[in-house]
Order: sequence, then C-alpha cells, then structure tokens
Amino acid sequence: MTEPNNLDTLLKENRTFEPSAAFIAQATVTDESVYQSASEDPQAYWAQQASYLSWSKPFSTILEWDPPHAKWFSDGVLNVAYNTVDRHRENGRKNKAAIIWEGEPGDSKILTYDMLGREVDKAAHMLIHLGVKKGDRVVIYLPMIPELPISMLACAKIGAIHTVVFGGFSASSLKDRIIDADARLLITADAGFRRGGIVPLKQNVDQAIIDTPIEKVVVVQRVGADAHSTMIDGRDLLWHKLIETMPKTPFAPEPMHAEDTLFILYTSGTTGKPKGIVHSSAGYLVGANTSMRTVFDIKDDDVFWCTADIGWITGHTYLVYGPLSAGATVVMYEGAPDAPDRHRFWNIIEKYGVSIFYTAPTSIRTFMKWGHDIPQSHDLSTLRLMGTVGEPINPEAWMWYHEHIGHGRCPIVDTWWQTETGCAMIAPLPGLIKTKPGSATKAVPGIAVDVVDDNGTPVTPGHGGNLVITKPWPSMLRTVWGDDERFRKTYFGQFSGMYFPGDGAHLDEEKYIWILGRIDDVMNVSGHRIGTMEVESALVDHPAVAEAAVIGRAHDVKGQAITAFVTVRDGVKTSPELMTELKNHVVVKIGAMARPEEILFTAELPKTRSAKIMRRLLRDIAEGRALGDTTTLADPSVVDSLKLQYQDKE
Ligand code: WTA
Repeated sequence: MTEPNNLDTLLKENRTFEPSAAFIAQATVTDESVYQSASEDPQAYWAQQASYLSWSKPFSTILEWDPPHAKWFSDGVLNVAYNTVDRHRENGRKNKAAIIWEGEPGDSKILTYDMLGREVDKAAHMLIHLGVKKGDRVVIYLPMIPELPISMLACAKIGAIHTVVFGGFSASSLKDRIIDADARLLITADAGFRRGGIVPLKQNVDQAIIDTPIEKVVVVQRVGADAHSTMIDGRDLLWHKLIETMPKTPFAPEPMHAEDTLFILYTSGTTGKPKGIVHSSAGYLVGANTSMRTVFDIKDDDVFWCTADIGWITGHTYLVYGPLSAGATVVMYEGAPDAPDRHRFWNIIEKYGVSIFYTAPTSIRTFMKWGHDIPQSHDLSTLRLMGTVGEPINPEAWMWYHEHIGHGRCPIVDTWWQTETGCAMIAPLPGLIKTKPGSATKAVPGIAVDVVDDNGTPVTPGHGGNLVITKPWPSMLRTVWGDDERFRKTYFGQFSGMYFPGDGAHLDEEKYIWILGRIDDVMNVSGHRIGTMEVESALVDHPAVAEAAVIGRAHDVKGQAITAFVTVRDGVKTSPELMTELKNHVVVKIGAMARPEEILFTAELPKTRSAKIMRRLLRDIAEGRALGDTTTLADPSVVDSLKLQYQDKE
C-alpha cells in the first residue's frame, strides 16, 4: 500500500470520473449555473437556502459582517430541535424512521420522528426539572447510543448549549472541558461498549468532576451490572428513572434568536489548550441542511449512514443536525468496524439498505488492508453515493473505495471541512462535477475559497500555497468560547480579512483543489485532530521528562502516527518500561487516540541557535528522508545521533 498523500503522487494523478447518466437523471442539483449565481450574490443564495428551514419569525437582514465577526439572519427566530424533529412529525414524516440505531452487541432500535420527538420532549422536561436554563452549558459524555442525539436535541429544544465530549477522551480532558465551559450538568452512561470491551465512562466522570462546577450527573444505563460505577446520592441520577417521572406533554420549543449559541465543540489547535468552537443556531443549521441537499443529494427514501462518532463535528453535522433537518433516515452504529468481525459495516449496509455511506480515509485504508473479499461477500447494491472526510484521501484508497465498495457506480464526494466551518466547504456536487481521486474538487456554491502564497496573494493554477476562505459563510464558527482574541488571531491573524484554516493546498490547471494537510502544529491521526503541543504538555507533565518534541509522521493506515522525541531529567534511566509508562501517561492525560506510536529518548533535541525545536528535521528523521538544511542548528551532532537511533529502532 502506498503512503497517504504526498504532492508527487497527487501531481501524477490524472484520472477523472464523470457522474453517470443514471445518477444525473435523479440528482437534486444539476444546473451548473448555481455556482455562478451563488458567487455573484452569496447572500441571496444563502437566504434562499435558509428558506428550507421553518422560522417562527422570518429574518429581514441576511448578513452583518464586521470582520472577523459575522451575524447571519440575525433578526430571525427559530428552534433547531423543532426544525430537526417536530416539523417532520407535522409534515407527513411522523412514522418515518429518523434514527436506525445498531448497538455493538447486536441489539438495535428504530426511532421514528414521532418517537424521537417524544423522547426529546421528555428529556427537555428533565433538563428544566434539573434547573437548566436557556444559555446554560450541558456537558454530554456518552457512547453512541440514542440518548446522545436525544440529549443534544433536548438542549436545543430548551435553548441550552451542549458540549459533547467524545467518549474516548480521558477524565483529565473531560475535566478541562467542563471547567472551560463552566457547566453544572453532565449527562453520561455507566459505561460504553467498544470492540467487545467496556469503556468506564462513569468512572472517568467521577474523577473528572472533582473541583468543577458540576452539580448533577445524569447516568444512562447502557452496560448494567458489569459497569462498576457507584452512584452518589443527591448528585447522580439514573436517566431512565428520572425520565419516567417527567410529564408526557409536548415541550414547547424555546424561540431562539438566529445567533444564539447552539453548541460548543472543543478541538485541538497549535497550543496545548483545546479551543471551544462556538456555533450559532440558524447559520449552522442552514449550512448543515444545505449540504445534505447539495453535496449528499439526500432524498426521502435514502438511508444515510455517517460512520463518525457524534463526539466529533462530523457526527454533529452529518449524524444529527444535517440529516434530521432534512427529514432523512440516519443509521447510527455504536461500535467498532471489526466487532464482532470485519464484516460488521457491510452487514449493516445490507441489513438496512444503506444508500449513502460517509466514512474516513483511514477506515477505507483499514478495509483495504483487510482485503476486498470481505465487502465482496455482501450485497452493497443499495449504495448510490459515498463520501469521505477527515483527512486527505490518497488516490489509491479512493480507487479502492470506488471499485470495491461503490462498484464503479457511486459518485464519491470527498468533503473538506473542519469543526470551525460547521459543514462541508470543498466537495463535488455529485450530479455536476467530475471527480479526480485525491481532490476534494471545488468549493460548494456560496463558499469562496482560494489558495494564496505567504503574502496572501492568490497563486496561479499549477501552484500550491495556503488554503483560505475569503468570504463569511452561515455555518462559520462565531468565536472561541471565552477567548475572542484567540479566535481573531488563530483564524484571521494570518491573512487580513480572510479565514485561514491551517491547511495547505495545491491548485491544478483546472482549478481543482488538492488538500495537502495541516501546515501548522496540528496532527491528523486516523482523522482525529491532535495538537503536537497537547501531547508535548502531556509528556512533560510526567516527572521523568525534561523536554519533549512531538511530530506526526506519515503512516500508511492512520495518515499520521505520533512520534515523540523525549529527553529525561538528570538521573532518570531510560528503559522500555519507561517508554510504555510515558505512552500510558499520554493516554491518561488526553485519551487513547493520542497514544504515541513511538517514543525516542535523546540526550538533546535539535534546536536552532534561538532555541526553537526544529520539527522539520525530526519529521525528516522519522520519515527516513535525506535531511534538509542543518546549518541553523546549534549542535548539528544531535541530529546524527538521533538518526542512528531511529535506524536502530527499525
Ligand atoms: C482535515 C473534520 C483533506 C483538514 C470535518 C482539516 C481534510 C481538519 C478533509 C479538520 C478532506 C478534513 N481532505 N483534509 N476531505 N476533511 N480534513 O476539525 O486538515 O476534526 O483542517 O473536522 O481535517 O478536522 P476536524
């Protein structure tokens, strides 16, 4: 298998794929002029898209842009839960499946829009009963069970701000987020199932909430007797017991101003402290809803499966808000792709007749490794469209997906976007745009992107540079929670008036965009964003460590793998045991997804004379490349000894 993207492979890629006549014949968007008209008048385009939502008070202004702050539809009033659930109960979809849930151990549940609505209403009553008010933050730390979207939608219904923390985060990461969001209520489960094992969520919560403002913990019983969690009287409440006592009456949706915050979602940046990305109610939902129709070509009889965990933005937008706002049927799967065996995903597609499948390149590369005979033994003929997200897809994985999963029939939408952008920004409209393996193609209508050099000047086709978004869009982040200065600096500090996402990109002769990956100190490990500084802080938190430098090196399945270079304190002896201990320390501080693949002990780190760690050199060493310029190093011999050590390791 080849490595994930590098520019050489991409520049050699010249295969193109036109959408089939059969796909075009049924596609929602087939008129190419939408690109032109949306770019001439993006506000008119977005206002028209906003009309797909139900407003309790229509908006009269579309955009107020005071860079870097945008307000969209600001005098409009709506409720996001009404738009994602209740209106479908009123418009003929009452008995349509909203969520088809499949548990890892094999249990399953189907919630129609009507059933989902009743569950959300009970949960909304419960939140009010627990004293949650409009604008309060509620932390949700749940496995992939129906109570997760139900809790989010209940927050939306009462106007509370949810902040979902991915169940793979450790107690320590959870604690940081609780404190930053200043939340008083937390919703969790006794434990979750993962690959046959048990994830002790409640135990993590017990640790995490010490010295935080959390007053009450609602606990969903998912695992039961094996979960080993202790309930604390007066603080911990069982979801199922509490919910039974709630009124069965409908809960009236809280009227929300367009710009009221819907949720905060934490993501990694270039410093050790994750950022709370703030999303609005209306703008976010307009973005999510629009992309369901344009990029995902959603129809009433589709079964849409996004394999992401709801703890990440992909799950927020394409498992909850996007598909439900469109009245679609979504599949939600609790567990791992190899539980109980490697047929699980294809069994799910067969069982529910999934028609649109959306996953990450790292998963595709894993399936490639497992062999195409596995999907081949299943009937995947219900699929009609497929997507990828989270990291650049290497052309080889794209082709495998196209041939072995899509059987050459299904267009592939490679969607580039971020926690901050709210919805897909660069992606083909599948009935209109010819695709190229490895390219996310072009910005979607209404989104203005460019590739610029380091001075902010647009590059000409055939060149690479920094990806930027040049105009505001409805689902853009509004700020960083509690730190507007960081918002300004991080995203708008680089190129004046333009949003800088941190990715590099190449523009080809046909102006197709080829995303090259992060150019800042953020890694992308199996589609998860992890800051190098976060891992470094976790390492230096260990008493044996003096200094640490972390890089993401190319990895054929994960995209990137974490390599840490560590110097120990005087008197500490390095050993394989210490290495394992340090890896585990990172897991305890952040979570399993941040475990370093390898740790190299070194007497010194390569630094410039101004004491800056030269990560580029470390990456060259870890990827076995010829070293670039080392003349700026304070002590060039450091690199030689590291190189030797790395070779020894292999
Ligand atoms: C990367 C996930 C190439 C990119 C939705 C971005 C991609 C980061 C793609 C955001 C793609 C996401 N092609 N790279 N199709 N999609 N990325 O916030 O580096 O978890 O900046 O959002 O993932 O990660 P996040």
